[in-house]
Amino acid sequence: MKSMSQSPLIVAIDGPAASGKSTVARKVAAALGLVFVNSGAMYRAFTWWVLENGIDPGDTAAVLGLLKSTGFECGEEDGTGTIAVGGVRMTRNELAASAVNAGVSLIAAIPEVRERLVAEQRRYASSRGVVMEGRDIGSVVFPDTTHKFYIDASPEVREARRRAEGIVDSIAQRDRIDSSRKASPLVIPDDAMVIDSSELGIDEVVGSVLERIRSSAE
Ligand code: CDP
Repeated sequence: MKSMSQSPLIVAIDGPAASGKSTVARKVAAALGLVFVNSGAMYRAFTWWVLENGIDPGDTAAVLGLLKSTGFECGEEDGTGTIAVGGVRMTRNELAASAVNAGVSLIAAIPEVRERLVAEQRRYASSRGVVMEGRDIGSVVFPDTTHKFYIDASPEVREARRRAEGIVDSIAQRDRIDSSRKASPLVIPDDAMVIDSSELGIDEVVGSVLERIRSSAE
């Protein structure tokens, strides 16, 4: 694929909570030999750190104070991006904790938090090809990439998927905050391919994404 030999290939996958974008992004990354990066894990990790420090996610001044003194380290393990915050690597369970689910959208709405994490995301992708998924990857983080996807699913399907995972999550509330915030709200980029995964299997979605990337890179 020609862009592989030039600047690193960047695939942006956005969408609302539990739309299936993580699973799709992971498989697309494996198929293309790129690193899978879940940018939501970075917002979740910092939220966990805020809670760990006894700070209320709604207390913006205190969150900003902590942000200043916090270091982020982005790495890679088995083809997946990793994040350590304040020197601590969190497990998937910690990142999916209900307190994190309840606080993450408040933290992610703070412009200074976004600036810091977006800078980390761009730095990370400057030296390697990535499939990065999130809310603002095609619209704000990498607006120049030609490979943008927006994975959607009906609210009922998304709620059911999260319930099936046995996770307590405030999906509707997070979607409301994520879509209505001033700083980089969840939007469908004009040039994104939109895929509704409500009635599709993961492999069908992955197939459509790969076909589109391959045809536009020819
Ligand atoms: O897995 P799920 O889609 O439920 O969420 P996630 O990707 O882990 O993201 C958790 C939260 O982080 C979202 O609800 C957003 O508030 C925030 N987020 C964001 O603001 N921007 C991103 N690029 C990724 C996540």
